[in-house]
Amino acid sequence: MMKHIEGIGVALFLMGAFSFGVTLLSKETTLLATTPSVPIVASVKNIVSGPVQIENDEAVSQQVALVITAATVAQKNTSAPLFRSSCLKGSGDPDASMMAISPTVGINVSYVPDDLVSIPKSYTKDSSFCLTQATKDAVVTLIDAAHTEGFSIKVSSAFRSYGTQSYLYRMHFDILKLTRKTVALAGHSEHQLGTAVDLSGASIGYKSAAASFGTTPEYAWLIAHASEYGFVQSYPKGTESITGYATEPWHFRYVGKEIAQAIAQEGVTLYEYLNKMTGEAVSI
Ligand code: DAL
Ligand code: ZN
Repeated sequence: MMKHIEGIGVALFLMGAFSFGVTLLSKETTLLATTPSVPIVASVKNIVSGPVQIENDEAVSQQVALVITAATVAQKNTSAPLFRSSCLKGSGDPDASMMAISPTVGINVSYVPDDLVSIPKSYTKDSSFCLTQATKDAVVTLIDAAHTEGFSIKVSSAFRSYGTQSYLYRMHFDILKLTRKTVALAGHSEHQLGTAVDLSGASIGYKSAAASFGTTPEYAWLIAHASEYGFVQSYPKGTESITGYATEPWHFRYVGKEIAQAIAQEGVTLYEYLNKMTGEAVSI
């Protein structure tokens, strides 16, 4: 069935939805209430300029990117102190970096890793992002290694709090009416663990969350080498029935070299490996 999304309608919906986003994002900063709503709507208008066939993979990806861009714009326009200090303080909860987080098993609303640090700007597409210290070090090493072999890769999304994920989820399913499983329910995203990154490459203009990334030389390089740097693609093609998510060529999670290489050798999904490792009996 063909569905169409009208850009202007979406922009108007999002204007209404913005206050909802403010409420959610304000969990991260009390200063967000001062955020002007114009930039987020302008951003949406720029991306959604006409009917979009949402069954098409690339169009779905563009809508996901739109949602992420809107959240990023909202975050960027918060008053300076949040973004000067940038990364949220840890919640003090036990480390969850090896959790087999899934559509059915989630993490608590307040979970924030204890050692979030900023990714240097030159390694990101256009925003400030945070990751756990080990993940940040590893992604910088990975991107440097790719660069020396002629591939330019950047981070287009990283740590997302429960509040930010709620905002994305609501935009994706409730506002844009997308049906593809490309955004996790809040509390169920690897991004909340601070160990997941969305990556993109120069060959597609560093477009975020793009299905076309799966056909790029940068992606081919990642598939060949990411495990050497401790990263695993969480949602590979053909594993939707195992992971519960549509394929995401852009989404990688840091688990350390040993586990990443074991997963590559065994040919299992990250979810299956961690689920077995942590002994969590979970079905999706
Ligand atoms: N895009 C992945 C599933 C997430 O939202 O965590
Ligand atoms: Zn992701």
